[in-house]
Amino acid sequence: MAFRKTSSYVFAGVQGARHVRSFSALAEGSISSAPSSQHLINLETQYSAHNYHPIPIVFSQAKGSYIRDPEGKKYVDFLSAYSAVNQGHCHPKILKTLVEQAERLTLSSRAFHNDQFPVFAERLTSMFGYDMVLPMNTGAEGVETALKLARKWGYLKKKIPREEAIIVSCCGCFHGRTLAVISMSCDNEATRGFWPLLPGHVKVDFGDEVALENTFKEKGDRIAGFLFEPIQGEAGVIIPPDGYLQAVRDLCSKYNVLMIADEIQSGLARSGRMLACDWENVHPDVVILGKALGGGMFPVSAVLADKDVMLCIQPGEHGSTFGGNPLASAVAIASLDVIKDEKLAERSAQLGQELREQLVKVQQHFPDLIKEIRGKGLFNAVELNNAAMSPLTAYDICLKLKERGILAKPTHDSIIRLTPPLTISRDELKEGSNALRNVLEHDLPQMQEEKPDDKSNSHSASSVCDRCGRNLYGSS
Ligand SMILES: Cc1ncc(COP(=O)(O)O)c(C=O)c1O
Repeated sequence: MAFRKTSSYVFAGVQGARHVRSFSALAEGSISSAPSSQHLINLETQYSAHNYHPIPIVFSQAKGSYIRDPEGKKYVDFLSAYSAVNQGHCHPKILKTLVEQAERLTLSSRAFHNDQFPVFAERLTSMFGYDMVLPMNTGAEGVETALKLARKWGYLKKKIPREEAIIVSCCGCFHGRTLAVISMSCDNEATRGFWPLLPGHVKVDFGDEVALENTFKEKGDRIAGFLFEPIQGEAGVIIPPDGYLQAVRDLCSKYNVLMIADEIQSGLARSGRMLACDWENVHPDVVILGKALGGGMFPVSAVLADKDVMLCIQPGEHGSTFGGNPLASAVAIASLDVIKDEKLAERSAQLGQELREQLVKVQQHFPDLIKEIRGKGLFNAVELNNAAMSPLTAYDICLKLKERGILAKPTHDSIIRLTPPLTISRDELKEGSNALRNVLEHDLPQMQEEKPDDKSNSHSASSVCDRCGRNLYGSS
């Protein structure tokens, strides 16, 4: 009962606040009637499943690269909702489209046609050079769709014997959270306790063309597709060796395997090209897009392929109530327009280079603490040296970055991903590298003193891969 009272108070507070505040009107440290960050975090902990371990900051308003919390404190976003906000938060053109379309028509279902999806389909396919698109909503659904498409193509066109189709994927991959998708995962936290996983998957080391060819040689007649991220995001922004993408293209053609690029995170200008595959000018058979396709406002994902592949799926065989809805389609068109009009790929390439130069300078000051700076465009990672950082992890550093106004997210124990909106200004970018330097210089010694060295709490045991027994991303 006590909780119910609290909730109604909170909702009244949130709604009341919405009427009186605008982003620009809210000055840092101003007193607001909205519930406090701590109160909201407590509510979420109480009422929401504990399937995330967020950095304790509450987003209340956002514009471009800036976030404000309910207390009015300002932060620079260096995560962009895992690259879903490449265009910057609340981009005015996308917002205008969203509002106008929402007032006109939001959903038809694909039982009928609507006047936005065909325009979006034409636009997206011509932009990326494919015959057709299959629209979905979340990234994981896009990947599921690509897997089903590959299997169907495998049976219909490649004549793989029934029930024997194989999808090859990479060690360290991340393609989402559905059962089919986690069946390819090397992340024990994503898989343990969710068995049985789906059969029909084979793993290969990312970036290793020899291993890929060996797998194709051994099982090629049953392999329908090779699914991979051209740059592995969740694994810690792992960039394959030069020539790998071309080698994948050649091998997929040679062994008649569909090359399926998951560009959900690496695509749409994030890496400094429209697609990360553009770095080697390769054209996959299937491309999956998501995240920034919805401009940070609406879940939109899409699978692109040519007719000989896409038409393997027939009416009634796959779909989604919301896939291709007019609101999503209008938002996606506007999101693509912004990427193109604002030259976000070029911007990402240029600013990414500048960010890495700044980060390398930080590394030169702390060569023992920072193992590697890597990235392409504004898709970057700082890999910390676990031994020198002990007992601290990348998460602890992100907590301190947050205190200094920078929002970044760790991946694994030792990697901090830096992926700001592609609209970020040079000054904001500098705030990020300065904050990292300040944390390492001023905060770290005290943090190391204060944090107990709790070896029993170490993640290293769970990062030994259940599949292959290696420890690719754990503490070293
Ligand atoms: C490469 C890649 N594929 C798929 C997904 C899943 O997308 P979603 O969370 O929208 O289901 C993600 C999410 O981070 C991703 O990075």
